[in-house]
Amino acid sequence: MELLTIQGKDYSGKRVFVRADFNVPLDKDQHITDDTRIRASLETINFLLNQKATVILASHLGRPKGKPEPSMSLSPVARHLSALIGKQVLFANDCIGQEAKKIVNSAVAGDIVLLENLRFHPGEEENDEAFSKELAELADCYVNDAFGSSHRAHASIVGITNFLQDKAAGFLIEKEVKALSRLLENPERPFLLIVGGAKVSDKIGMLRNLLDKVDTVITGGVMAYTFIRANNWETGNSKVEYDSIPLAKEIYREIRKRHLEFHTPLDHVVADKIAEDAHYFTTERGTVPIGWIGVDIGPQAVWEYTDCIKRAKTIFWNGPMGVFEIEPFAKGTIEIAKAVAESDAFTVIGGGDSIAAVNKAGFADKISHMCTGGGASLEFLEGKGLPGIDILKK
Ligand code: 3PG
Repeated sequence: MELLTIQGKDYSGKRVFVRADFNVPLDKDQHITDDTRIRASLETINFLLNQKATVILASHLGRPKGKPEPSMSLSPVARHLSALIGKQVLFANDCIGQEAKKIVNSAVAGDIVLLENLRFHPGEEENDEAFSKELAELADCYVNDAFGSSHRAHASIVGITNFLQDKAAGFLIEKEVKALSRLLENPERPFLLIVGGAKVSDKIGMLRNLLDKVDTVITGGVMAYTFIRANNWETGNSKVEYDSIPLAKEIYREIRKRHLEFHTPLDHVVADKIAEDAHYFTTERGTVPIGWIGVDIGPQAVWEYTDCIKRAKTIFWNGPMGVFEIEPFAKGTIEIAKAVAESDAFTVIGGGDSIAAVNKAGFADKISHMCTGGGASLEFLEGKGLPGIDILKK
């Protein structure tokens, strides 16, 4: 896929509107608990600053539903970004109107401005024409580097490009598209898909689209329990996405037709509740006893999955193997993270939880590509066009 890129372009003296994805997790004191997305935007920002452009950054944070919500302000991001870049980031308390214009007009070449949360205005999610025009009036050119938001046809992703003809993808989008395209176009075989976590319905489209490309599928978490249930096996009190069972059955049929290798866990860690102080034990088989909740894959499953990982030449992983946020139930996910990190395959990880697991285990630098967009990467791999990417195609 050929995109319009910023590489080789001259931005000196220009005001550049950069749509970033700074939708980062904050704790109750508004401290950023994971700054991966901010760090991922630095290459593009530094490139533009080195060219003496005025960089006008815009993003959403959370889902404030079209009105200001102080707990979703981007001001902590402005402070964090200043510390990372070693330069003051001017913060505009609104993304449009007099407030935004005043700050942008006071900025000179080489300055950075961060606009307040775009979703404080309903026009952002409505892709409203007047709102898009107001955003565009702040700048001379447009750069989209918000891969994680590019599946949203919002004003700062799509509408704005009707008013700023000079548009391009930033380095992060280029990197994400290149890595994900490699999974779709001629992946080196065997290609292993590891799919876990909850939100089964969000992932099943991706799984179905990848059936034509993959050789092996291994499952964990709610995804695995939903497939186990679809086979009419016992899942006890484990979380199952019942609405997705008909699709899971259809996928089983497709898998048999294609003679693919498909695994649900050979054993499970099961608990009486999802809490640190739960009673838990490891089952001897791939079903969950009545009254118990599946919370992690067991050691036999880890052994079998590690073997699949060792054989693979391409790996895409989305979703943890269990409730890895709770220490006693994290082992399976951490073991999978370790095996993926040690593999020589081309490895791509998508989805906030699997990335958090890899970060927690300290293996991030051993992964070929960590996607900054969970929903966006799933839609890309589902074969759907992303509005924010389609608009930047050559
Ligand atoms: C994400 O976190 O996946 C992106 O920032 C998009 O956020 P959204 O799902 O609220 O549109």
